[in-house]
Amino acid sequence: MKNKIAPSLLSADFSCLQKELKLVERADADLLHLDVMDGHFVPNLTFGPLLLESLRKYTALPFDVHLMIENPAKFVERFISAGAKYITFHSEASTPTEIKKILTYRKVKTDGGYLKVGLAIKPKTPLETILPYLKNLDLVLVMTVEPGFSGQKFMPEVLPKVAYLRKILNKRKLNLEIEVDGGINPATAKQCALAGASIFVAGNSIFRSGNIRKAIFELRKSISPI
Ligand code: DX5
Ligand code: ZN
Repeated sequence: MKNKIAPSLLSADFSCLQKELKLVERADADLLHLDVMDGHFVPNLTFGPLLLESLRKYTALPFDVHLMIENPAKFVERFISAGAKYITFHSEASTPTEIKKILTYRKVKTDGGYLKVGLAIKPKTPLETILPYLKNLDLVLVMTVEPGFSGQKFMPEVLPKVAYLRKILNKRKLNLEIEVDGGINPATAKQCALAGASIFVAGNSIFRSGNIRKAIFELRKSISPI
């Protein structure tokens, strides 16, 4: 499984998103991470499908949509139509019935193959809550900060959860991605890669670095197998 770097748009300069997109695309990012917040599930508000629709024509990067919203099942189709290739929603914000409903969207074809669906868990949410769904998922997003804001400090206490999840996936012979999100920089990405993560979301360490190309290069170097 190829390690992927997913710059989080939340840390970009919103007055020139088109330019910011080009910069991460030319620096060989793999995905574009889009943080959708509703002011209920998390204490912050960001954007919805309208922004994705507007950005879609300016980049070939697959959209990796992270829904930090209540009732995600209600909005999934809107994000698919707006161009999502990956949709991840929080287990804490959904009932088992809603989770099962969202998992059926893996049958949806996008122009880059089938939609990839992921479940996300907050740092304090036990892994056990998502284990029953593993075989019907494409990825698990393990939050490495409390969701809501970019620029927070990585929580190293989450690393054992990443390692344990990778162990379970190997044992069950499941080829899921493990995505880590929050406080990711070359040093913390390396620790996550060693624990078994394969998608690395980074906001501040890329967009606020002053040199996007160098930041992505350093991040990739830190997670490349020796
Ligand atoms: C936080 C978001 C993250 C955030 C990452 O709730 O899910 O994607 O933008 O930003 P950094 O890398 O700055 O922690
Ligand atoms: Zn995110």
